[in-house]
Amino acid sequence: MNIMLLGAPGAGKGTQAARIVDDFGLVHLSTGDILRAAVADKTALGLEAKRYMDEGALVPDEVVIGLVAERIAKPDAREKGVLFDGFPRTIPQAEALDEALSEGGMRLDAVVNIAVDTEAIVARITSRRQCRECGRVYNVITDPPTSEGVCDACGGEVYQRDDDREEVVRKRLEAYEAQTSKLIPYYEAQGLLRTVDGNQAPDQVYSAIKAILEG
Ligand code: AP5
Ligand code: MG
Repeated sequence: MNIMLLGAPGAGKGTQAARIVDDFGLVHLSTGDILRAAVADKTALGLEAKRYMDEGALVPDEVVIGLVAERIAKPDAREKGVLFDGFPRTIPQAEALDEALSEGGMRLDAVVNIAVDTEAIVARITSRRQCRECGRVYNVITDPPTSEGVCDACGGEVYQRDDDREEVVRKRLEAYEAQTSKLIPYYEAQGLLRTVDGNQAPDQVYSAIKAILEG
């Protein structure tokens, strides 16, 4: 089973992804996490990507498409199935994914669109924290780690992402509206789109997603 999570910044993709991969055994492919790891390692890719990420802009399609193609070519992607989190983000990325999956004899089974009211998003993201090591998502107001700054799951450092400042969040929301939201009609036309109400508590959002994936 190959699933894509679609949603605005702060919709809860990373939060739900952790639960889905635990229950369904899928490979978690978050392009944001891959890019942040490259930035931390100061690789050539990371240095290029950082310029875009710091401004809340999308990294160029060819860079991201290359990363994803490399990851889904590994045997575990076909064996376990993949949960795409934050990819595709543009129509050319979606077309490239369709092509790469069909070349490998795979396909997308569902696109889960997590819909959240815009007003909630800035508050959620500015209070978000994330583990530098395993990527687990926290929130200092609603879901803090047990010990401040330390990940409950792996003991890694829990930090605030560089692009979680309010002015950058607003730019990311603009990029979502201008580019990524175009994927809603794209996947609707393919009969793959399933929308869940992301304004509910995380457990309720997950119940709705689970029902779709098991249905
Ligand atoms: P990426 O890392 O993908 O960030 P994003 O899409 O902006 O999404 P977020 O990770 O901010 O939000 P999320 O939906 O995962 O929410 P979360 O679960 O953390 O991308 C970052 C950057 O990388 C991009 O700007 C771009 O530059 C680049 N990039 C990445 N992929 C790319 C691509 N394909 N093409 C081009 N560029 C790319 O939750 C947020 C907060 O809310 C947390 O604190 C959480 O605890 C809380 N929360 C979650 N669910 C709930 C709930 N139901 N109720 C209350 N609070 C909740
Ligand atoms: Mg995320």
